[in-house]
Amino acid sequence: DQSLLLVNGEHRLAEDYQPEVVEFRDTDLYMDPSVVEPLEELLAANTKATGEKLLLVSTYRSAEEQAQVLEEETGVAAQVGASEHQTGLGLDVCVSGKAQRRFIDSETGIWVDRNAWQYGFIIRYPKDKTKITGYIYEPWHLRYVGREAAQEITALDVTFEEYIAMVRSDRIQWLQEETQYDDQNP
Ligand code: DAL
Ligand code: ZN
Repeated sequence: DQSLLLVNGEHRLAEDYQPEVVEFRDTDLYMDPSVVEPLEELLAANTKATGEKLLLVSTYRSAEEQAQVLEEETGVAAQVGASEHQTGLGLDVCVSGKAQRRFIDSETGIWVDRNAWQYGFIIRYPKDKTKITGYIYEPWHLRYVGREAAQEITALDVTFEEYIAMVRSDRIQWLQEETQYDDQNP
C-alpha cells in the first residue's frame, strides 16, 4: 500500500521507480490500483451532487512524460522524480470549460474541494501553503491518501508534509515507549 508515500522536492523517487498501475476504464489513463474504486465513487457522487461531469486530465506519468510536462508547464510541474504523477496516486481533474486555476470557480471544483476527503482524496497543494508544499495552489490536483488519512488531514487542516511528519513523530514516540517498556520488563 503506497497511499502514504510522500513525494516532493526533498523526497524524490528513485530513477528506476516503477509503480504498479492499471488502466482506468478504457481511458488510456493509468493509476495505482487502489485509486480506481474510490475514484469511481467520487465521480458518481459529484455527478449526483452537481449534475456536472468531473473529468480526468492527467493521472500516472512516467519519468519521460513528467519531463515533457515540465518543459511545457515550467513553474507548475514538479521536477522529474519529485512528482506524485509518477506514483499513480496523483490526479489532475477539470470540468468542461474550467481547468487548472479556474476549476475552483466551478460547482464541481467547490464540491470536490469540500468532499473529496470522504473518498480518500486531498487537495494536495492547498491555498496559502506554498511555503510548506513548494507549489502554488492547485485546486485541480488530487492525491489519493486513503480514507483515514484524508479524514485526519482535513480535520486537522494540515498539508500532507505536516501530516507525514506527525505520523512519523508519533511512531518514534511509540517506539521509544516500547523500548522503555522492554527495558523495564526484560
Ligand atoms: N503539478 C504537480 C506539482 C506535478 O507536476 O506533480
Ligand atoms: Zn497534478
